[in-house]
Amino acid sequence: MDSWLIYRGQGEPDPERIGRLPDPPRWRRFSGDPLPDAVPPVDHSTERRLGERAPLPIQDDESLQLINAALYLRRPLLVTGEPGSGKSTLAHAVAHELGLGRVLQWPVVSRSELRDGLYAYDAIGRLQDAQLSRERASGTGPVPDRARAGDRTRPDGADPVGGADPAGAAEDNAIGRYIRLGPLGTALLPSVRPRVLLIDELDKSDIDLPNDLLNVLEEGEFRIPELERIADREGQRTVHVLDEDGRRVPVTDGRVRCHAFPFVVMTSNGERDFPAPLLRRCLHLKLEPPRNERLAALVQAHFGPGADELHHDLLQSFVEGDDGGELRLTDQLLNAIFLTQFAAREDRVRRGEIADLLMRPLDQQHPRR
Ligand SMILES: Nc1ncnc2c1ncn2[C@@H]1O[C@H](COP(=O)(O)OP(=O)(O)O)[C@@H](O)[C@H]1O
Ligand SMILES: [Mg+2]
Repeated sequence: MDSWLIYRGQGEPDPERIGRLPDPPRWRRFSGDPLPDAVPPVDHSTERRLGERAPLPIQDDESLQLINAALYLRRPLLVTGEPGSGKSTLAHAVAHELGLGRVLQWPVVSRSELRDGLYAYDAIGRLQDAQLSRERASGTGPVPDRARAGDRTRPDGADPVGGADPAGAAEDNAIGRYIRLGPLGTALLPSVRPRVLLIDELDKSDIDLPNDLLNVLEEGEFRIPELERIADREGQRTVHVLDEDGRRVPVTDGRVRCHAFPFVVMTSNGERDFPAPLLRRCLHLKLEPPRNERLAALVQAHFGPGADELHHDLLQSFVEGDDGGELRLTDQLLNAIFLTQFAAREDRVRRGEIADLLMRPLDQQHPRR
């Protein structure tokens, strides 16, 4: 094992190892004032994907080198490969092994815009609340739920939307309450340890998103114009907003600037070519679908040690179609193993039938690349 590898793909969590990551190269240093590090632990979605973890590495050597290069160089990792090759799970594996906390996930669709990943501002909700507060103050309207709950502990400054607010109403309407950072916005908060951000299926996006994304990832920062605009008002320079993990975090001068650059995994099923500038500024990892040892490791991770031997026949029929260019997804194999355990433990014929049913090659609209 190369000693420079911080992430080793061995599965056992070792949160100390990230502390050995050297400083970034000069051109990838970011100057956000660090926030205290209390990142929520990996959640259920990570555990579901990784299973129990096998003692065998699921990534090959070249993948390990590229994943580590991205960590050292503070560059996003663009991961391409067929569905089922383990692209999305890679982000979870890194977060789990290096103790980097909950994976921030941004599933991209054709209408996704940069702004969705950065933050959302609920202007309408704010107006409605301001209206309610005014009515409450003049004794004409219902008391808003939040005021009843006595939630007056927030440190935000007041924003005088809608004129002179009575005490309390001002806090209820403070702008930070209506701004919520998205997965990308949260990943760029100045945490001491890098967060893990999964920008999943970037190839589904509109043509502009990759370039827009590139600019933000290059600078490691973004602005929130709604906060910039009020930053010179008294008590408004630092506003607490909600992040993707539901925490209240301070934003000063309407700017979010990272400290440790996040570990960013952008995945693509290869349905599109990305612009050259994006490729230049990322590291590109092409994942092959898991076979042989990697497949055995994966099956063990989900069904326990020795499961690959026990279900040797299913693994065999899973890889059989490879030569004929048939495409089967890893999840089909996992489903088949799971089901045959119950439905046909002893009955080999029935077992074969179930396996055939669940592991039918996806139709040839998905030619092998
Ligand atoms: N490192 C891993 N450890 C355990 N299971 C994995 C690992 N990588 C992939 N898998 C499993 O393989 C399947 C396909 O992986 P996924 O990441 O969804 O592929 P892709 O995003 O390329 O379509 C998932 O069911 C996942 O649980
Ligand atoms: Mg995926």
